[in-house]
Amino acid sequence: MLIKNPPSWQIPEREATPEHVFLNRRHFLGAMAGGATSLIGGSAFAAKKKTPDPTADLYPAKRNEAFELDRPLTKESDASSYNNFYEFGSHKRIAMEARKLKIRPWTVSFEGMVEQERQVDIDTLIRAMPLQERLYRMRCVEAWSMAVPWSGFALAELVKYARPLSSAKYLVMQTFLDPEMAPGQKQVWYPWPYTEGLTMAEAMNDLSFMVTGVYGKPLPKQYGAPLRLAVPWKYGFKSVKSIVRFKFTDKRPVTYWEQILPSEYGFWANVNPEVDHPRWSQASERVLGTSKRVPTLMYNGYGAQVADLYKGMQGEKLFM
Ligand code: MTE
Repeated sequence: MLIKNPPSWQIPEREATPEHVFLNRRHFLGAMAGGATSLIGGSAFAAKKKTPDPTADLYPAKRNEAFELDRPLTKESDASSYNNFYEFGSHKRIAMEARKLKIRPWTVSFEGMVEQERQVDIDTLIRAMPLQERLYRMRCVEAWSMAVPWSGFALAELVKYARPLSSAKYLVMQTFLDPEMAPGQKQVWYPWPYTEGLTMAEAMNDLSFMVTGVYGKPLPKQYGAPLRLAVPWKYGFKSVKSIVRFKFTDKRPVTYWEQILPSEYGFWANVNPEVDHPRWSQASERVLGTSKRVPTLMYNGYGAQVADLYKGMQGEKLFM
C-alpha cells in the first residue's frame, strides 16, 4: 500500500517534531481561528452549549480493587492532551479536533456469527452493563506509557449480551466511518474504518475491558467516546476507539495497522521488552507527564492473567 504521509507514531519520538515547535504553531493557528470567529460568527459560537452526557449519573463507578497499579496514576491533564486518534489527524494534541465527533445518537451493532443480528442504542447498552472502575497501565508501541482509571465493563459481559454462536473464533471491532465528521478519513490511503480484533479466548479474558469513562466521568471524545476497548497487555493500537460494530467470525481479521505495514504491526501485538520494533527498542518506556524512563514489562506486567492464552503458539508472531 502507498503511504503518502507516514503517521507520526511510526517514527521514534526523537525524530518527531519537538513538542514546543508544534505547540507554538498550534497556538498561532488557534489564535488565527479565534480571531476569525470573533469577526464573522462570535455570537453563533457563544450560543453553542455543551450537552450533558446522558449517562453522567453513572459516574464515578465503584472501583474494582482487584486491578492494582505498580506506579502513580497519570495526571488527567497529561492523559487527556496526548492522544492518538487518526480519524481526526496524525498528531497527539487531538482533543480540539476530536470535538467534532458526534457521540449521540450512537448505535452499536452485533453482526456475523450471533444467534440474531441486532442493534442497540449506546445508552441502553451502557445501562444494561455492570459498570466499575479499573486502574490500568497502557503501553503504546511508540514506547510511551500511562496509567489511567478507566470506567466501563468487562468485554465478557458484552459478549454474553451479543450471544455469539459457539463456532465463532474471533471478535472484530470497528470504529465509525464518516469522513465529513472525521477529516482524517478523507485520507484514502488509510484502510478505514479502523478495525481491530481479538480471539474469543482473549475477548473473554477478565482483563479485556470496554471503556465508557475515565477519571470518574463519561469518556471525553479524544479517548474514543462513547465506547472503546482496553486490552492492557497489548500495545495501545489494539485498543480501538469509538466502536460501532462488533462482528463475530471464524476468520482472523486483517487489522488496521496490519493492512498498512504488515512488516511492523501484526494481529497479536502483545507487549514484550525483548522483541524490538523493527525501527526502535521496546526495552523501556517514557512515562507520560514525567521525564522518567522505566523498563517495559513482559505482557506489560499482566503475564499472570494472560500468558496462558498463548501456550503452544510459538509459530505465531505474538509480539508485533
Ligand atoms: N482507535 C481509532 N479508531 N483510531 C486511532 O487512531 N489509535 C490507537 C488506539 N485506538 C487509534 C485507536 C493507538 S495507536 C493508541 S496508542 C491508542 O488508541 C491511544 O489511546 P489514547 O489516546 O486514549 O491514549
